[in-house]
Formats: sequence, C-alpha cells, structure tokens
Amino acid sequence: MHDLVVAITGASGSIYAIRLLEVLLAAGYRVHLTISESAALVLSRELGIHVDLKNFKIGQLLPEDSDLTSESALAAFIPDRSSFADISSVFGDPKEEGVIYHHYKDFTAGIASGSFLTSGMVICPCSMGTLASIAGGHSENLIHRAADVHLKERRKLIVVPRETPLSSIQLENMKRLADAGVTVMPAMPGFYHTPRSIQDLVDFVVGRICDHLGIEHKLFKRWGDE
Ligand SMILES: Cc1cc2nc3c(=O)[nH]c(=O)nc-3n(C[C@H](O)[C@H](O)[C@H](O)COP(=O)(O)O)c2cc1C
Repeated sequence: MHDLVVAITGASGSIYAIRLLEVLLAAGYRVHLTISESAALVLSRELGIHVDLKNFKIGQLLPEDSDLTSESALAAFIPDRSSFADISSVFGDPKEEGVIYHHYKDFTAGIASGSFLTSGMVICPCSMGTLASIAGGHSENLIHRAADVHLKERRKLIVVPRETPLSSIQLENMKRLADAGVTVMPAMPGFYHTPRSIQDLVDFVVGRICDHLGIEHKLFKRWGDE
C-alpha cells in the first residue's frame, strides 16, 4: 500500500480536498492527513463541514453518504471497477483504515522525518501563507515540515494554490518552489472537457493531481479521447 501525505490548508476550494481524499482512498492509498486551523474554518464556511482538529474522525470529513463503494467514487477509475470494490473486503472500511490523521502541530508524527517513507505529498488546497512558509523553509508547523522533508528527500510534492490575482511576491514564491522541483498545480479547471456541473470542474482539478501521482482514472474526458 502506498503512503501519501495530504495536507488541507486555508485556501478556498476545500471541496477539492474532499474529492481528492475520496478518490485516493478508493484507489487504495493510505493517506496521512493533516489539516490547518484555517482549513478547518474554510471547510466550515464553504461546505458546512465541522472538523475537530484535536479529536478528529474521518467521518467528520467524509460523511456516511460519501460511500467509497458508491458509483460516484468508483466511476472515477478506468477499467476494472470490481477491483476497487474489493478494497473494502481486503482492508475493512477504507475510510477508517486508509486515513492516519496527524494534528498540524504534532512534530512527533512520522511524516515529520525523512526516514518515514512516503510516495509523495499533496497540499490541496494550498494557501499563499503555507506556500510562502515552504518557500522560506520556515517549518513552523507539521505541514510546512512535511513539505520541507519531501523537498530535502527529493520526493514528489504537489501544491494546489488558489488565489487571484497574484502579487509578484506570491509569483516569486511559486517560482521558488517550482525551481526546487515542486509541482505547482493551481486550482484552475479547464473547460475543454465541456463541464456540466461543479463536480465536473472539481474532478478536472483532482484528475490532474491524480495524473501527477500516476493514478489511472477517468475523472474527466481527455483532450484527444474519442
Ligand atoms: C473563507 C476563507 C477563504 C480564504 N481563501 C483563501 C484563498 O483562496 N487563498 C489563500 O491563499 N488564502 C485564503 N484565505 C486566507 C488563509 O486562510 C490565511 O492566509 C491563513 O493564514 C492560511 O493559513 P494556513 O496556510 O495555515 O492554512 C482564506 C480565508 C478564509 C477564512
């Protein structure tokens, strides 16, 4: 099983994080999840989702009706839907088994160390504040530290910023990260796949993240596909 770090920070677009988690868990990843205080605020404002960062349960983020064996989650993948249905029988409840939560101030978490192996980290959405902290190497919380670790270990780090317009300072921070090998993937859905719903727009962004993680999916219709 692949271990992946997912951090949710306080930029708008918390719906991207929810869908990303749903897809990663359905794909069989073990997700090391951490959530900033501002992210909790944005989740509450944007989606009416209330997470208790000190006493976190995955059900707070992915409620019962977000069923990983639902058509919606499984339809995200290409060929063999039945293999994903198997996940629940192999690993129990994928929501409970698949998520290891770390408080964003807990520097004792494994993901704070380079010796803890992961296949990468995604920060989605990524606030300009977190982006600046990573670009400055501040490591003031677990999210910054885990990102720092992924940089120093030369592992995959994907950030999904959302802000508009952008100042020269923010652009410089993004360039700094891109120069250091980070995949800077702004939450900018395309429209060439003729989206019909907000879900289609969200799935475009999440699908592009999956592309960079090497996860096969059919979250959107690709340019050039029949
Ligand atoms: C409702 C709401 C929406 C926000 N949207 C954004 C945003 O789109 N982009 C951004 O960079 N910051 C946004 N912010 C500001 C960040 O949450 C703030 O800078 C915070 O300090 C980021 O902290 P964090 O990086 O630890 O999550 C928003 C804040 C709130 C309350």
